[in-house]
Amino acid sequence: MSEIRFGNYRVVEVLGSGAISTVYRAVQEPLGRIVALKALKTQISPTSSFGEQLDREAKILRDLAHPNVVLLLDVARTAAGRPFLVLESVEGPSLEQLLTKKRTVPVEAALAVASGICAGLEHIHERGVVHRDIKPGNVLLSSAGVVKIIDFGIAQRARTASVSDAFGSEGITPSGRIAPEGVKDAFGTPAYMSPEQILGDFVDGRSDLFSLGVVLYQMLSGSRPFEAPAKDSMRPPAGADRSAAQRIRRDTPTPLRERAPHVPRAVERIVMRLLEKSPGERYTSASDVLERLQRELRAMTRDDPASVVRGALVLAGFATAAKRSEGAGPSSSRRLVGARRAIVGHAVILLGFVIGVLAIEGGSAARGTLEPGSRPLELMPAEAGGLRVLATPWAYVRVDGQQVETTPFARPIPLSAGKHWITLTHPDAPPVEREVVIITNETIMLDVTMAVGPAADAGKDAR
Ligand SMILES: Nc1ncnc2c1ncn2[C@@H]1O[C@H](COP(=O)(O)OP(=O)(O)O)[C@@H](O)[C@H]1O
Ligand SMILES: [Mg+2]
Repeated sequence: MSEIRFGNYRVVEVLGSGAISTVYRAVQEPLGRIVALKALKTQISPTSSFGEQLDREAKILRDLAHPNVVLLLDVARTAAGRPFLVLESVEGPSLEQLLTKKRTVPVEAALAVASGICAGLEHIHERGVVHRDIKPGNVLLSSAGVVKIIDFGIAQRARTASVSDAFGSEGITPSGRIAPEGVKDAFGTPAYMSPEQILGDFVDGRSDLFSLGVVLYQMLSGSRPFEAPAKDSMRPPAGADRSAAQRIRRDTPTPLRERAPHVPRAVERIVMRLLEKSPGERYTSASDVLERLQRELRAMTRDDPASVVRGALVLAGFATAAKRSEGAGPSSSRRLVGARRAIVGHAVILLGFVIGVLAIEGGSAARGTLEPGSRPLELMPAEAGGLRVLATPWAYVRVDGQQVETTPFARPIPLSAGKHWITLTHPDAPPVEREVVIITNETIMLDVTMAVGPAADAGKDAR
């Protein structure tokens, strides 16, 4: 098989292929840097309107530099005049791959991914650009848990005519021209498009916020807001005869709570407001949305967003728990690590408790040694039972006066049989105290709702 080269770049593998371009992973020689190359397909003439798309993409990316936006490193042409973009290589799956495998992600992970998208959009919009094709396939998740927006193929400077010139509501053909087979994909994906984009109106950043709403809704519920959830594949869902574009323009989205009752109301309000038909009814800016998403995320977990995303990748088998990645940063619960190491170390070595979901923490903790000065709670393996604490939204857990855990980790804490005094604290809630009696070989469950106040969420989203 002959080696594919683009100048100094040696192709290693094909990462993806769309209507207009093919994306490769390549090595920049002699530097040895791994990059992604987005090259115009050989069938497409570089001087055609499709061919020029790559140049437009380069001109948009040139002005962008943000951790949540793929970085453009270079633009060049092969000797034959075939243009290609050199991009930072993102090692990790797309959100689409994650959702194909898991259908939904935990609420925390959905909020963390949406926050990453939103931070990228904030940067993009501030520079006067509208992405116009926000969808799971255009969001990559690095193994370190960093969200990267890619594919600025149809991005535009704001306040210019939208897709009316390029996107009819049904046939998705450029007006007056017949799109070559397959090229329709190049104009975006109706399922995630805002009503104004479908209609060909002027679009601004709020159009991307609508698409973000569709993506967030799908992460939380496993289906898109204007489509019936695909239950059995034999029968097409109700409304399948009507196009996605028509439904987005005319239908009211199914309330998120009907499909995902576990989602906190405050989060649902954000999602449904992003899905408002009229841009004026949505949030005014990505910054506004970002602030709200981050607040909801903080209400649910103390972990930083990258760790949360990484956790979702580990759960889905896209990343391994053992390798703690650079970008993910240290666990925010480091100060608990002494006690946790002691506890988990004993749990793993002596009791063999299943740590499962917490493989990241558990794995490293089990390998670690006990820190001097960290007094583990007394463990009596022969007579031990377990305590599992669920706290809403989360809490520090102290057992007999000693900090042992932060919820919502559904990991049983091994304790000696008999009475124990449990204290749950949260910075914004009164502490909760409980006495529990541990029984040998049994795990008991403590389920507590922390009265977090002052009524943080009520009315926050009222306009
Ligand atoms: N920088 C990158 N790093 C790693 N993979 C990438 C990168 N850019 C694109 N890809 C892969 O190539 C696919 C297509 O890239 P994209 O820019 O979305 O092109 P298209 O316009 O064909 O949709 C993506 O879904 C992703 O799998
Ligand atoms: Mg794409």
